[in-house]
Amino acid sequence: MKLSRSDFPAGFLFGAATAAYQIEGSSFGGAGSTHWDTFAKGPGNVVRAEDGAIACDHYHRMDADLDLLKDAGMDAYRFSTSWARVLPEGRGQVNQEGLDFYDRLVDGCLDRGLKPFQTLYHWEMPSALADLGGWTNPDVADWMADYAEVITNRIGDRVHSIATINESWCVAYLSHFLGHHAPGLRDIRAAARAMHHVNKAHGRTMTRLRDLGMKNCGIVLNFEATEAATDSAADTRAAATQDATHNRWFIEAITKGTYPAEALVGFGPHLPQGWQDDMAEISQPIDFLGVNYYTRGLVAADPDATWPATKPVTGPLSKTQMGWEVYPEGLQRTLTRMARDYVGDLPMFVTENGMAWPDEVGTDDDVRIDFIDRHMQAMQAAITSGANLQGFFYWSLLDNYEWAFGYEKRFGLVHVDFDTLDRTPKASYHALKSAIAPRKNDV
Ligand code: FCB
Repeated sequence: MKLSRSDFPAGFLFGAATAAYQIEGSSFGGAGSTHWDTFAKGPGNVVRAEDGAIACDHYHRMDADLDLLKDAGMDAYRFSTSWARVLPEGRGQVNQEGLDFYDRLVDGCLDRGLKPFQTLYHWEMPSALADLGGWTNPDVADWMADYAEVITNRIGDRVHSIATINESWCVAYLSHFLGHHAPGLRDIRAAARAMHHVNKAHGRTMTRLRDLGMKNCGIVLNFEATEAATDSAADTRAAATQDATHNRWFIEAITKGTYPAEALVGFGPHLPQGWQDDMAEISQPIDFLGVNYYTRGLVAADPDATWPATKPVTGPLSKTQMGWEVYPEGLQRTLTRMARDYVGDLPMFVTENGMAWPDEVGTDDDVRIDFIDRHMQAMQAAITSGANLQGFFYWSLLDNYEWAFGYEKRFGLVHVDFDTLDRTPKASYHALKSAIAPRKNDV
């Protein structure tokens, strides 16, 4: 790789990210059912109807997986805690075994010199709460804050930072409007409510975390580089609408207490009554912003379609196994835009960036090495232009359960054989390890 640790400011953190449902194995350790366990059993929802019941069996292999992070010279580990592992019914009875697991995980990080970056909600809504409407129910804000309190009382004294939600857009829009993720709804009323309630839950959870005295609390949002497919007026409008629903809705609510007009046009009539009253709690200060970035979104107008009347367009750039264009400039632009328009000097972390490739053991993933290198250059350029970027987490440590794509798409620095569950570090793991080896002055 062209860049190394010494190209970044002192104290810049390098790490890798995972999420509970994608690696742990939801059938182990007394975890309750989540909407992903059941969504995966719906017809045609997930490739080969695969679910996370076993996943990478991280539940039983946690120590070996933490060793992989340590041996790579990582500074930090971003993981999520599963709501249904802590509270199998979403509320009420606590699963002590689940709390013990996360206790061991946090201690395991600290023993290895890894800063634990916790995410509270990375997509697995407990089924008992999904039965009550999940994200469409306004009570989700209190349910989530209560869950946050239970897990924080156990591990909050040792985690380095807490993110409330992972990727609010995916939680709400992708899952309740496009129907691609659990609960698989395609309903504008459900979507509008989820778009607001996910913010409300963020705000309510922040309030609770502050009451508990927690510092380093924030949120992880996903951004795409939205661009119009042509410079026609219609496509330009389409891009502005998509930018509003995808990139602006959540960060504007959190930093300014408002929703963009281009998105309110569609969602406004379906928002819960009195939503304006929640905006003050939603826009309370955060301590950091996590930025997840993968690709650009080329978009055109689709006059025959219902609002937002947009359609995705396939671009000409080289693509990953997901079919996502490789577009590092978009990461640089996103980071500088966040600093300029929304968060100013607030610390930011790239909490996810990575690529899927059909990796096989014994074949080098040079394409991923190049991908990481180019995105590190984009991060460096953003820092040079003033963004207060303080760390980068590669997605993901391991090949894992890639949601609706099952186990087919491989994002890992470490290959996982899903028959034997053997882990094999890829060439990119070794390349990143050399790149982030201690700075000369630090040894
Ligand atoms: C993000 C998710 C993460 C993973 C990557 C590829 O949207 O946060 O769980 O699926 O995409």
